[in-house]
Amino acid sequence: MLSHLLTLAITATSALVAAQSADIRDSVGPLTTIASKTAVRTCDITDYGAVADGQTDISDALNSAFADCKAGGVVVIPDGDFALATWVTMNGGTAWALQLDGTIYRTGTGGGNMLFIEHGYDFELFSSTGKGAMQGYGYEFHLNGSLTGPRLLRFAKMTSFAVHDIVLVDSPSFHFSMDTCDSGEVYNMVIRGGNSGGLDGIDVWSTNMWIHDIEVTNKDECVTVKSPAKNIIVEQIYCNWSGGCAMGSLGGNVNVSAITYQNIYTWTSNQMYMIKSNGGSGTVSDVVLENFIGHGNAYSLDIDQYWSSMSTVPGSGVQLNNIQVTNWTGTETDGSRRGPIKIICAYDAPCTGVDLSDIKMWTESGDIQKYVCSSAYTNSSSAYCLSSGSGEDGEQHAGFDAATVTVTAAPSGYEATTMPGDLATHSWGTTAEIPIPTIPSSFFPGTGPIKALAG
Ligand SMILES: *[C@@H]1O[C@H](CO)[C@@H](O)[C@H](O)[C@H]1NC(C)=O
Ligand SMILES: *[C@@H]1O[C@H](CO)[C@@H](O)[C@H](O)[C@H]1NC(C)=O
Ligand SMILES: *[C@@H]1O[C@H](CO)[C@@H](O)[C@H](O)[C@H]1NC(C)=O
Ligand SMILES: *[C@@H]1O[C@H](CO)[C@@H](O)[C@H](O)[C@H]1NC(C)=O
Ligand SMILES: *[C@@H]1O[C@H](CO)[C@@H](O)[C@H](O)[C@H]1NC(C)=O
Repeated sequence: MLSHLLTLAITATSALVAAQSADIRDSVGPLTTIASKTAVRTCDITDYGAVADGQTDISDALNSAFADCKAGGVVVIPDGDFALATWVTMNGGTAWALQLDGTIYRTGTGGGNMLFIEHGYDFELFSSTGKGAMQGYGYEFHLNGSLTGPRLLRFAKMTSFAVHDIVLVDSPSFHFSMDTCDSGEVYNMVIRGGNSGGLDGIDVWSTNMWIHDIEVTNKDECVTVKSPAKNIIVEQIYCNWSGGCAMGSLGGNVNVSAITYQNIYTWTSNQMYMIKSNGGSGTVSDVVLENFIGHGNAYSLDIDQYWSSMSTVPGSGVQLNNIQVTNWTGTETDGSRRGPIKIICAYDAPCTGVDLSDIKMWTESGDIQKYVCSSAYTNSSSAYCLSSGSGEDGEQHAGFDAATVTVTAAPSGYEATTMPGDLATHSWGTTAEIPIPTIPSSFFPGTGPIKALAG
């Protein structure tokens, strides 16, 4: 018995190390300071023909400024109202920065990405005042029932970069996606989109990313990891009326590992965290979801490997292993219909090493809540609705149909604080202009931003 326990303890400890080995906070971000880039050169778009009249397309000026500063320097979009009618791709560039102190207003209607920044090295997109913004006027598309407009911002294959202290508003489509990047930091940002699916906040599939102190208002992804991804830390996130944070949707040949979300506050969203797939193959391993607070959400923890909103992908299912979920408090909307724990793993690829601890949540309506698990195994002792089964004897984990635990009393200590800024109603729909907010001074109860706000 003792040796059995010891084995478990050692396994658990090494798993924790594996999950947390991804502490990349000190090794991400640009390699050169803004001061030294400025000393090399600044390229102010108003010296290249841009006019802050909210009407004249700045794309030629921005392209010219980028061409002159891409080998080292700072492209400056100064305070003022600038129009973007033609989308700009900034490809390559080393030791450069884009200082966005003004506001870029979308005036063109093409699809694609308003700003596409790719293949750069040692880069920083920032506002020195915290007032730089992109206004996508997505409502002009959405009131026609269309999501065909551009994304605001896309990064691809960027290395050693940061994005911070800017505001993204009302994208016609996704707000900000980062794919195939390495060693990036994103922080001190507000994203405020329309109240509709298809208007994702941040989507990331990359390696070595630190994303923190972000507020998202929309009705789709808050901060979401897609495949492939490795070593990503997401912390101090305020999903201020959103879809919620998630992983996925996951399809074939999934390869996701070492993902940590902590200090995540979710208000009136679809879920506090969802891992979503339907069929598919590959693995997700070493995920930590800790210190979550939620209120008014439909789902809380929602692992759904039969997610009906995506079509089935060939394969017996994405294998989830070593998923640690710890210290969740707050309340869900209706714990009887949608309990705080729902873990539906693939029957032919059961989840292993799912560890839940201190999940202390309670329902806002009625007086019961349900935990539902199927094909979900924990390596420690069975708890909530999980099955124990370490697989130590080499046994195969068998799929099992949903096991439901009905809880009739509130877990002690479930109460959790709220954020003062919680939206009472979603004032920003999809049919009217959405105002540009200021960056808040807190993104998680009781904490300030990890890095000082600009301005
Ligand atoms: C929305 O529809 C109106 C009326 O057909 C049209 O004038 C407008 O250009 C459309 N908006 C966009 C962004 O396509
Ligand atoms: C998964 O991604 C890592 C890099 O993040 C890579 O080293 C590994 O080979 C990939 N595994 C598979 C099965 O593709
Ligand atoms: C649990 O999370 C809360 C924030 O919701 C935090 O204040 C507390 O320190 C956490 N507890 C532990 C044991 O980490
Ligand atoms: C849990 O057990 C599985 C084998 O069943 C193993 O692959 C995995 O590494 C273990 N995870 C942890 C957290 O111990
Ligand atoms: C949450 O969103 C609402 C509406 O956008 C806003 O009024 C409030 O300030 C936001 N909260 C914070 C902390 O910014």
